[in-house]
Order: sequence, then C-alpha cells, then structure tokens
Amino acid sequence: MKFFLDTANVEQIRKASELGLLDGVTTNPTLISREGREFKGLIEEICGIVSGPVNTEVVSRDAEGMISEAKELVKIAGNIVVKIPLIREGLKAVKVLSAEGIKTNVTLCFSPVQALMAAKAGAAYISPFVGRLDDISHRGMELVEQIIAIYENYGYDTEVIVASIRNPLHVLDAALMGADIATMPYGVMEHLINHPLTGIGLEKFLADWKKVG
Ligand code: E4P
Repeated sequence: MKFFLDTANVEQIRKASELGLLDGVTTNPTLISREGREFKGLIEEICGIVSGPVNTEVVSRDAEGMISEAKELVKIAGNIVVKIPLIREGLKAVKVLSAEGIKTNVTLCFSPVQALMAAKAGAAYISPFVGRLDDISHRGMELVEQIIAIYENYGYDTEVIVASIRNPLHVLDAALMGADIATMPYGVMEHLINHPLTGIGLEKFLADWKKVG
C-alpha cells in the first residue's frame, strides 16, 4: 500500500519523507493557497523532496485549457501527475493526455460510475473523496469498495487513491479493501504510528531495565 501526504506544506513533507515511508504527495488549489507562496517555486521544491508522484491540479474548466495547463505542469519535474476534475471536459482532457503519456489523477470523484468513466478515459489514478461523503451522511468507504470491485471486474489498472481522509480508520478500511494508495493529512500519518499502550509498555520496559545489574 502506498502512502501519499495530502498537503503542500514543505515542512510536513520533509518530516514525512524523513520517515522513509512517503510514496507521494497530493495537492489541490486550496492546499496550495494555504502556503501563501508562488506556485511554481513551491511545486519545484516539493518535487525536489519527493521522488514519487507529486499531484498538482489544473484550474481551467474546458478541456483545451486543461490540456495546455497539464503540458506546462509536467515541464516542472518528471514526477508530476496532473489532477483533473471529474467533469465532462475533464474526461475529454484525460483521454487526450493519457494518449500522450501524461499521467492524470481524476479528482473530486463521488460516485462509482464516475470512477468507471475516469478509468475508461485512461486515468492513471482516481481519487474518491471519502471524508466529504461522510460529512453528508454517506458512507465514503462504500464508494471505494465499489470502485475496487468495478476495476477488478474489468481489469482496469487505474490506481485508487483514497482521498479526503480524516482519520486512521479511513486508512485501516482502505488497507482492508486493498486500495492502492491512501492520501492523508500529516496528522493522520502521525496517528498511524502512535498507540498509548506502546508508550506505556516502553516506559515500563525501560524502568525495569534500570533494575538489571
Ligand atoms: C485529494 O487529492 C484532495 O486534495 C483531498 O484529499 C481533499 O480532502 P479534503 O476533503 O480534506 O479537502
């Protein structure tokens, strides 16, 4: 299972990367805007830290605009994956870009049939947003389960990125379902490591060790 960090914060990316378990990064216009930095320089810096895919999103609404943005984005670094919104024009753009060998991550996916359309268009990745579905009382992880089943039925090699992750249980469920990737905020990645009984157990072992002659 691959772990991506869902952030544009360089400090968090560095810290996660030092752990040696970071496989990639996803950004979006909101995450980029939080950093208050010039876009291209920020993405260049992130690509310098992470050797895996760095996902960055187009902002055009028409296929032509998305395609030309994508072609500019991939010039920034060899590991750029272009995020394209799951709308009609987006699917047109994905079809063209995938034929040209440009990897796309189709984002803002909220239904299994949307994911089917993205795979048919040639998306390298699909991003179902589980937390945002949970927020409106839909079971986000059910969407992931259905996408995995559909992709397995037809042998699509589009990788499933579980996105909009809010807590470690989303990561657990994603792993149990066999999702390819979980993209998560830095805090969730930290929570995956920690358990209070591990800390308590370690303290006790170290205290007892002091009694050993
Ligand atoms: C994924 O690529 C998106 O950047 C992200 O997971 C959105 O998550 P949010 O619902 O927490 O904004």
